[in-house]
Amino acid sequence: MGTDENLISAFSGESQASIRYRVFAEIAREKGLKNLARVFEAFSYSEFVHAKNHMKNFRSDELDDPLSALDEAIRSETHEVEEIYPEFYEEAIAEKKKKAATSFRWAMETEKKACGNIQAAESSG
Ligand SMILES: [Fe+2]
Ligand SMILES: [Fe+2]
Repeated sequence: MGTDENLISAFSGESQASIRYRVFAEIAREKGLKNLARVFEAFSYSEFVHAKNHMKNFRSDELDDPLSALDEAIRSETHEVEEIYPEFYEEAIAEKKKKAATSFRWAMETEKKACGNIQAAESSG
């Protein structure tokens, strides 16, 4: 692998770590462990900054132009709604993995609504 691949790999790892620590923070907070929650929130933010710095190396166009970033986001989410999640959902159903199927369906439905809202807002100016 070269640096370009390493950046994408590091971005992916840091992004996932950021979300993981955010979830741990949420769980700690729900259990009344406020200080532990703060520790995980700090970890999560730190990983977010690392991911962002990596991303700046390979997604600079969108960072300079938030409107083109919005178009890209809608394309990407639409792809998930139309191609990715329906397949994942069907596979989870076939494997009788109900919790996974529900998780895929919720994400799919939420993203469908979010994309619809953004497109409606864009067309109304
Ligand atoms: Fe990191
Ligand atoms: Fe998504």
